[in-house]
Amino acid sequence: MTTTTAVAHPNIAFIKYWGNRDDVLRLPANGSISMNLDGLETRTSAEFDPQLGEDEFTLQGVVQIGTAAERVSDHLNLLRNMAGVAWKARIVSENNFPIGAGIASSASAFAALTVAAAAALGLELAERALSILARRGSGSASRSVPEGFVEWFVASRDEDSFAFSIAPPSHWPLIDLIAIVNAGPKKVSSAEGNVLARTSPLQAARVADAPRRLNLCRRAILEKNFTALAEIVEEDTRLMHAVMMTSQPSLTYWEPETLELMRIIPEWRAGGLPTAYTIDAGPNVHCLSLEESAQEVERRLREFPAVSQILRARPGLGAKIVPG
Ligand code: DP6
Repeated sequence: MTTTTAVAHPNIAFIKYWGNRDDVLRLPANGSISMNLDGLETRTSAEFDPQLGEDEFTLQGVVQIGTAAERVSDHLNLLRNMAGVAWKARIVSENNFPIGAGIASSASAFAALTVAAAAALGLELAERALSILARRGSGSASRSVPEGFVEWFVASRDEDSFAFSIAPPSHWPLIDLIAIVNAGPKKVSSAEGNVLARTSPLQAARVADAPRRLNLCRRAILEKNFTALAEIVEEDTRLMHAVMMTSQPSLTYWEPETLELMRIIPEWRAGGLPTAYTIDAGPNVHCLSLEESAQEVERRLREFPAVSQILRARPGLGAKIVPG
């Protein structure tokens, strides 16, 4: 059988996905908006082999067993069912960014896996169908399928909850400077955290208010209004982390330096430096900035002893097949 290779970028959510209305189908509690991160990528090859007894999943050169391998096999089962075959697969996946550095690797992982495996099975699927399938593997992966700035629809049916591009990467050359304050693996995965979201009394209010935040964020992107984007992105981050902290059991992903940056970044902005923070399910701080402000933001971030590394990303393309 032929081997097919796909590349996908992780994405940073501006309006966060946190919590599901259906945990099995990964139908989100609210819509979300993100930007793909160029420069950071997952490259995944898929080969289906009728002679193979079990799926084999190799990540960064290491054969995986346990939960990671099961999650990949479960995802392949969806694709095998669509194609009407039972063949097992060899999956080989590499990230060019540090795993465990707190960059959402499940988004690029399941987007690349979906696109590579669908092509290897000869399934000719449109972007929308690929986004729906990627969502079943990891919610945020639905947003790594289309290009650039992406919105993922909230919906009550599997076939209606997909992501689509609201603007191409060239629309607005935003820069994401990812300040790594703790490179260790997170204690509670997003998959586990998403299931806990509904235990917070604040989640219902966060979800009910999501259409307002989505509208403000979409408009800020389309109008390239950095101040408007900064304000809504930071507000949305604080709302998600408030839900995490008030879940049962409660989740606190921040380190002291995370909070320090959350305090100082709006001060830098008030002083005339366009930058804004956003934080996923981890302690690391994504500092959004413009081309003209990125160098100064990076210089200031480097003054923090706890910032061990800074990754830089521009708006990225969607997931695609590449030569093997
Ligand atoms: C905090 O997509 O990683 O990054 O669907 O369970 O795999 P699963 O979760 P995942 O959750 C991402 C949560 C987030 C916010 C976001 O990317 O929208």
